[in-house]
Amino acid sequence: MSQTAAPTNRPALPLEIARRRTFAIISHPDAGKTTLTEKFLLFGGAIQMAGQVRAKGEARRTRSDFMQMEKDRGISVSASAMSFDFKGAGNTFRFNLVDTPGHSDFSEDTYRTLTAVDAAVMVIDGAKGVESQTQKLFEVCRLRDLPILTFCNKMDRESRDTFEIIDEIQENLAIDVTPASWPIGVGRDFLGCYDLLHDRLELMDRADRNRVAETVRIAGLDDPKMEQHVPPALLEKLREEVEMARELLPPLDPARVLEGTMTPIWFGSAINSFGVKELMEGIGAYAPEPQPQSAEPRQIAPEEETVAGFVFKVQANMDPKHRDRVAFVRLASGHFERGMKLTHVRAKKQLAVTNPVLFLAADRELAEEAWAGDIIGIPNHGQLRIGDTLTEGEAIRVTGIPSFAPELLQTARAGDPMKAKHLEKALMQFAEEGAAKVFKPAIGSGFVVGVVGQLQFEVLASRIELEYGLPVRLEPSQFKSARWVAGPKDKVEAFAAANKQHIAHDNDGDLVYLTRLQWDIDRIERDHPEIRLTATKEMM
Ligand code: G4P
Repeated sequence: MSQTAAPTNRPALPLEIARRRTFAIISHPDAGKTTLTEKFLLFGGAIQMAGQVRAKGEARRTRSDFMQMEKDRGISVSASAMSFDFKGAGNTFRFNLVDTPGHSDFSEDTYRTLTAVDAAVMVIDGAKGVESQTQKLFEVCRLRDLPILTFCNKMDRESRDTFEIIDEIQENLAIDVTPASWPIGVGRDFLGCYDLLHDRLELMDRADRNRVAETVRIAGLDDPKMEQHVPPALLEKLREEVEMARELLPPLDPARVLEGTMTPIWFGSAINSFGVKELMEGIGAYAPEPQPQSAEPRQIAPEEETVAGFVFKVQANMDPKHRDRVAFVRLASGHFERGMKLTHVRAKKQLAVTNPVLFLAADRELAEEAWAGDIIGIPNHGQLRIGDTLTEGEAIRVTGIPSFAPELLQTARAGDPMKAKHLEKALMQFAEEGAAKVFKPAIGSGFVVGVVGQLQFEVLASRIELEYGLPVRLEPSQFKSARWVAGPKDKVEAFAAANKQHIAHDNDGDLVYLTRLQWDIDRIERDHPEIRLTATKEMM
């Protein structure tokens, strides 16, 4: 089978851009995302020993998690990026791995992260199959037709039958699955995999977890060399299964992988470093190069000479000693060099990017240059918000980065009433970061804070205390839902004036209708056909 991605009718990219692969890993908690990330970095030469990323016994997390909160809770709250090179067959790829928060409460953040990548690696646990969070994240990828590569992990433990796993993915996720490798034996008897793409045998080394598997080149399954490595019973089963797989399952079609309708699956064991290299080679071969970015009034192509990029995430207080914020920018086109002056399209201002950061594995480094596909961090004092576009002058605006109406609302008051102004400032900062929605009601004092999942309230309260030294009281709100109000200006103004007790403004100053009941929303839509109450708004 061919080892190159499908030809497209787009122009060839400059080599520096063409070698970039920007992707995220999606998985259910515990499937092995952190372990796989460590091994990626290890094989990418970014770290010497996997243990540097996660000290044994310590709470599970890679160094990509920066904040105290995450350390305390052992969850990955924020998404961040890691860049590293990988020498694949015939090419050295630059991988940009964008980390997604694993907890379901942070789905909005995850959604936006997925707007910054060109592909996703889906990790599933071989014993558990497709779990709830995998399914949810997959649906998000599908909304964007993202190409997906699958890694079935933990094959060193008792796992399900290979056909059963493949069937489950096909049925639950409605995507065709094509095996890139086939496992030999399970659990204690797991020997390794037969590489269906290259006709080779990959044997797992149980003694050294950081060693790459031994590769045995063979001429197909009937090669007598197989018998030297695989016991007769396992070999017979392997031959039968591969024959059946080749009959029943579709062959790898790179074009369909790029469309997002087919996923190749590799089997392995991240903790034993097994199957990881093959997966990385697969990312190089089948995940797409940096893709064009939807924008208005025109699309941005990665090969354009001028630089354009957009903010998909803002993280405040990454270093508690310095009140800095970092805007994570995905470069959509061009060749960026440190010191460049870029136009902040929304603010119509110039921004000199003097100290951009590249996230190289465990460390942040100054980015001297970056190319389309890369993620850079731009420290700033609040000028850059999620959804902002940076260009070399052209008034172009990246589209498709949504903001979702929160599903849970609470009121926020300062523990010390003298500190109300300080609280407002802190809340606004978190709102800009995308950590919560903050609504200022037209009547009364205090704020209504909205989030997608309960855990976000806790995160918010502890961050306000930790980062601003402000005790905050979050209490149940009389409101249960929020909707943005859209429509002709005069109608919207009249509607707002007549419904003052329900009206608030979000942190961008946009009008919001707060309500207790869903039927209230239905009633308004019926009684005021010119008014639209929307659950999403595009960040701009
Ligand atoms: P996550 O980020 O997706 O939540 O998963 P993580 O990598 O932290 O892995 C979850 C658990 O699964 C960890 O065990 C990890 O060591 C284990 N694991 C990962 N890959 C494999 C594998 O290929 N085979 C086996 N058998 N286990 C694997 P833990 O006991 O929860 O943590 P730890 O004490 O090992 O750090």
